[in-house]
Amino acid sequence: MADVKMIGVIGGGQMGSGIAQLTAMHGIDVCLLDVNPQVLSTASSSISSSINRLVSKSQLSQSTASDALKRLRFTTNLNDLSVADFIIEAIVESEEVKKSLFVQLDKIAKSSAILASNTSSISITRLASSTTRPQQVIGMHFMNPPPVMKLIEIVRGADTSDATFAATKALSQRLGKTVITSQDYSGFIVNRILMPMINEAFYTLYTNVATKEDIDTGMKLGTNHPMGPLELADFIGLDVCLSIMKVLHAGLGDNKYSPCPLLVQYVDAGRLGRKRGIGVYDYS
Ligand code: CAA
Ligand code: NAD
Repeated sequence: MADVKMIGVIGGGQMGSGIAQLTAMHGIDVCLLDVNPQVLSTASSSISSSINRLVSKSQLSQSTASDALKRLRFTTNLNDLSVADFIIEAIVESEEVKKSLFVQLDKIAKSSAILASNTSSISITRLASSTTRPQQVIGMHFMNPPPVMKLIEIVRGADTSDATFAATKALSQRLGKTVITSQDYSGFIVNRILMPMINEAFYTLYTNVATKEDIDTGMKLGTNHPMGPLELADFIGLDVCLSIMKVLHAGLGDNKYSPCPLLVQYVDAGRLGRKRGIGVYDYS
């Protein structure tokens, strides 16, 4: 496809706002959409403060920062994405909700536009089958936080074309990321390995093997992870972790992927992690 000049990002939460920031900093016009205007206002201020922090640390020039901020638009109207060359969906990790968005997107997006999903675990083939352009649907899995993490995991659905794959890889590299490629199986590469570790950390806490602090310190200092698994779960969002475990359990069919009851209970209690001010840890 021709050079990507305008990107639509759908979902203004932690991933969507980070993806919008990253793409704007790389000279691409971005329109960020969320159903909730309050989310867009929070995203706008967190992107501005993150970009300004980079300027104050001399990691970004003032002119690149001003350009980036000018490239960003915010909307609640899906029709505003009808001019986008490439659309990245980063909404809630639910197959049903994502599918219904893809049905709508297929209707409003340019016929040449690629529809990418930032899903952590859900089948790209099934999302693609809700559109009339499955060859232009692909998984483009950014890591959190998108401006910092160096990886994008690209997931090919059953019908993803070589041209769509090549365009997505080129865009990822333009954003400064290293690309890995996964076949379309639940959890792909990264979360197939990461989430069972996080789930096991919950079982370790649930069965009183150790305190949360000792579990995290053990993995941080014992295996040189930047964050312990419980701290990382709070950072990702416990709701996202639980949704991924459910997809792994349903898709791979082994009991070892069964979500830990403590993780389920925290989500039931609304303890979703840092974004809610409380998860495994209390951030208030
Ligand atoms: N935007 C831009 N820059 C950011 C940022 C953001 N949202 N968050 C942090 N940074 C920058 C900081 O400015 C800082 O830059 P300098 O070193 O140049 O000063 C750098 O990142 C480090 O940040 P901090 O000093 O504030 O904090 P830290 O050293 O603890 O690092 C971290 C923060 C990068 C998040 C680090 O703790 C880390 O790597 N944690 C693990 C993250 C991880 O594993 N992510 C993957 C999760 S799994 C996933 O994403 C897939 C999924 O589907 C669930
Ligand atoms: P989040 O809860 O922070 O944000 C999701 C946003 O989507 C919310 O602002 C919500 O208002 C919005 N939304 C919901 N339905 C919508 C719709 N129909 N149209 C437009 N907006 C809608 O979630 P997040 O952590 O940013 O995760 C988003 C996606 O990225 C999920 O698929 C998740 O699995 C994936 N992901 C998350 C992480 C992570 O660490 N949190 C990492 C990689 C990938």
